[in-house]
Amino acid sequence: MRPETKTENRKAPTVIDSPPSENLQLDNNGRLRHFLSIDGLNRELLTEILDTAESFTGVSERTVKKVPLLRGKVITNLFFETSTRTRTTFELAAKRLSADVLSLNISASSTSKGETLLDTLRNLEAMHCDMFVVRHNDSGAANFIATHTAPHISVVNAGDGRHSHPTQAMLDMFTIRRHKQKFSGLKVAIVGDILHSRVARSQILALNTLGAEEVRVIAPKTLLPADVASLGVKVFYDLEQGIQDADVVIMLRLQRERMGSAMLPSEHEYFQLYGLTDERLEAAHPDAIVMHPGPINRGVEMDSQVADGPRSVILQQVSFGIAVRMAVMSMAMGTVTPGAAKR
Ligand code: CP
Repeated sequence: MRPETKTENRKAPTVIDSPPSENLQLDNNGRLRHFLSIDGLNRELLTEILDTAESFTGVSERTVKKVPLLRGKVITNLFFETSTRTRTTFELAAKRLSADVLSLNISASSTSKGETLLDTLRNLEAMHCDMFVVRHNDSGAANFIATHTAPHISVVNAGDGRHSHPTQAMLDMFTIRRHKQKFSGLKVAIVGDILHSRVARSQILALNTLGAEEVRVIAPKTLLPADVASLGVKVFYDLEQGIQDADVVIMLRLQRERMGSAMLPSEHEYFQLYGLTDERLEAAHPDAIVMHPGPINRGVEMDSQVADGPRSVILQQVSFGIAVRMAVMSMAMGTVTPGAAKR
């Protein structure tokens, strides 16, 4: 993405004996400052997010579902693309941390009158916001905002183009760890539209960083990225071969909004080859769990018996998303003590 207006350099002034971190996401002490991508984050930091999220799961079960960690902070949700789960769970997570929350309705905002993204940001900065949670259909949008916003503001990526959806990947890792306890020894199969999926890219990075034994991708050739071999995955074109003995089966939605018409046969034909049914799931490990980031297209990537069946943990993913987003926001704002939430 390119800046829409000429801007001054608004990066934090550097301290002579403490050079700025090369990783935009981390401060000079290696602590989370923005959460833009899984890329560049190590196993310790990802584990700290999971452990911190674990400490927040009980908050949702209390009579008063709140902790004061972000009291007095202003969190602004900037969703330039549609969302059901991510937007609402970020909003709930911020409220459970006692923050003041603004959710800008972009289609009803002055963006439609021609106001640039940077001018919108400047106006929100003038309202003393502390964090932007951003979803955008352009890959790189969250990095762009983190680079151009005021130095005291943290940016959390809620999904940018086909690049990254890091909190989705972390709530998926949280769900897997809850069911399988550890990542070593796990075979995880990711099925479907890998090419257009920011979720798949983030999941692959997270699974490899956390030490999963084998990450597999299963898709027709037209829905795999050209660089798939460099992603650290085993590639399969046949669903039943790919999910053989898998401990975790993650189904993905066909991202019609990001693909041309020539990439696929009909949805019916896709389901015949890659749709998950109870019969096909028998090839996986008997204790395999089935996941999906949502929204599900029933009868396209999976049938309802699987989506609503005993192995599905799809709605647990949504619930755990609140605790994971609480963890990411409080870590990025520096309001949780490092290591306080160790398992
Ligand atoms: N998984 C996910 O990002 O869902 P939404 O698009 O509804 O937020």
